[in-house]
Amino acid sequence: MIVVASDHGGLELKSAICQYLGSRNLDGRDLGTDNGDSVDYPDFGEKVARAVSSGDAEKGILICGTGIGMSIVANKFPRVRAALVNDPFTAQMAKEHNNANILVMGGRVTSAETACRLVGIWLDAVFEGDRHQRRLDKIAQIEDEVRKG
Ligand code: RB5
Repeated sequence: MIVVASDHGGLELKSAICQYLGSRNLDGRDLGTDNGDSVDYPDFGEKVARAVSSGDAEKGILICGTGIGMSIVANKFPRVRAALVNDPFTAQMAKEHNNANILVMGGRVTSAETACRLVGIWLDAVFEGDRHQRRLDKIAQIEDEVRKG
C-alpha cells in the first residue's frame, strides 16, 4: 500500500499521482487534503509518515508547495527516510542509494507530468544495499541514540 497526502500547494500533483498509481494497478490511498483550502502541511505529512513509520504502509508520497516542509515533518518519524526529489536522477538515487520509503515533491516546483515520471522511477528502481545499507544502519543507530537522549 502506498499512502499519499498533500497540502493545498500539492493538491494538483496529488490527483495526478493517484491517477498514475491507479493506472499501474497499485494500491494508492489518498489521505487528503481534499480541496484547495489552505491547510497546514504538518497535519498531512504526519498522516503519511505515521503510517510508514508504523509499518501500516510500505511507502508514502508527500507533496507541498516546495516539498521542503513535508520533508522536515516526515523525517521526524522513526524508520522514515523521506527524500525530496526534483528530477529523474534524484528520484533514482532516492531508491538506489537511500532506499527512501517516502518520496517528496513540490507542487510549485515540479509539473504533474514530471511528478508521475519521478514516482515511476522511484518505484521501479532497486536499492543497491551493500555500502548503502551500512550507511542506512548508521542512520538507524543515530536515530536510536537521539531517541534515548
Ligand atoms: C504553503 O503555502 C507552503 O508553505 C507549503 O506548501 C510548503 O511549501 C512548505 O514547505
